[in-house]
Amino acid sequence: MAFYLGLDLGTSGLKALLIDEKQKIIASAHAPLHVSRLQDGWSEQDPQEWIKVAEQVLDSLKSDHSAALGRLRGIGLSGQMHGAVLLDAEDRILRPAILWNDTRSHKQAAALDADPQFHKLTGNIVFPGFTAPKLLWVKENEPETFSRIKKILLPKDYLRLWLSGEYASEMSDASGTAWLDVAQRKWSPALLAATDLDQSHMPRLTEGTDISGTMRKDLCARWGMPANIAVAGGAGDNAASACGIGTIKAGEAFASLGTSGVIFAANNRFLPRPDSAVHAFCHALPRTWHQMGVILSATDALNWYSSITGHEAAALTQELGDILRAPSPVRFLPYLSGERTPYNDSRIRGSFTGLSHYDSRATLTQSVLEGVAFAFRDNAEALAKAGTKLDNITAIGGGSRSAYWLKALATALNIPVHLPADGDFGAAFGAARLGLIAAENSDPVTICKPPQIIRTIEPDKQLLAAYESAYHQYKALYQALRPLA
Ligand code: XUL
Repeated sequence: MAFYLGLDLGTSGLKALLIDEKQKIIASAHAPLHVSRLQDGWSEQDPQEWIKVAEQVLDSLKSDHSAALGRLRGIGLSGQMHGAVLLDAEDRILRPAILWNDTRSHKQAAALDADPQFHKLTGNIVFPGFTAPKLLWVKENEPETFSRIKKILLPKDYLRLWLSGEYASEMSDASGTAWLDVAQRKWSPALLAATDLDQSHMPRLTEGTDISGTMRKDLCARWGMPANIAVAGGAGDNAASACGIGTIKAGEAFASLGTSGVIFAANNRFLPRPDSAVHAFCHALPRTWHQMGVILSATDALNWYSSITGHEAAALTQELGDILRAPSPVRFLPYLSGERTPYNDSRIRGSFTGLSHYDSRATLTQSVLEGVAFAFRDNAEALAKAGTKLDNITAIGGGSRSAYWLKALATALNIPVHLPADGDFGAAFGAARLGLIAAENSDPVTICKPPQIIRTIEPDKQLLAAYESAYHQYKALYQALRPLA
């Protein structure tokens, strides 16, 4: 029996998932990560911490599954997208990584976005979370650091450098930099030049299903692994999740309730529509693209509320029970880090409105779940504008463990929400699948099959009208609050 490992470098932790050649999950391990927020709108992590937690999860797999590690053939990498890891000529880290939900570079993003070649070549708005404006910010605010940059890597590609010694990236994650010609699947010298960089600063590009390199011998020895383990190109976390849940053909879509919230639709061609604030990116599979609406705080909003109340997120949602209630009189806007789709607004912040003496902790939990569900509805509308109308959707991510949240989502979107059979079909699983495909040169469509659906949550017909009117109130509140931000 051969084995494959997926490593998903998330924002709140790193997860390792071990599968066998039949794609059965053998083991998983997780280690938490913290985000440093030195100023409002900033979000940073130390890349050294990523290596530390990767070592921890591999040590933990080694202690219980050393036989499987001894027969490992492929590793796939997945990770939080857009972050900038800046390295000098000796591969030393020049400053903490600036992450995807960091909006400090909003002015630089607006300046790049005003240059028509960005929309033309990338097919996307230059959002402040993307990599290119972060580099412009470093150039303007930390010129000494900028002058020492020799390589810029995305988060999971920094792990790849550690694992295999290779500077490499792949198309799905590279799409989120604003330096990729997304239709041609190659770096754009013109876009790089707009931030005073060139191709020498970039890693080489592979497809997610290609072998990007092999694991370093000393690391193989440390965890009792054989030589020549293939390290696949892998994928940004959303494209990796799509491989995990089998969203690889046009017409298929999933909603991810993770730290960020994403509606992801697979496309068989590049379908840019920047004015909708929908992202149009390469998929991890060759000749495949995808569209995606992104909200910056999904479970992040509930986790924030949990830290305020001192109650675990799961305990808060349990307090609501499983039966959907009429929308709360309190509206919550989940814009704790600003918002991407549909507004591209880095200045807006979250809010509770409509509070009264009568409202309890549970009412506010309910309004947080509803606010996030309405943000997903905004994304579904943006995707429709970009030509992708959803008839149903499969839910994944930590938030999909709440039955209440799924019911609220189905009712806010007015489409059935499918729930996959018990299991783990997220980014780490997708990454492990990419590791298998690369190592064995397997057919991606045969490997990336969707799981069995165990439940379908229908919209609550009785509450559709009330949800519709609460959604319109939610939208109006954004318009009312925007001038105050
Ligand atoms: C996607 C995005 C987020 C991060 C979360 O554009 O910014 O989904 O990838 O890890």
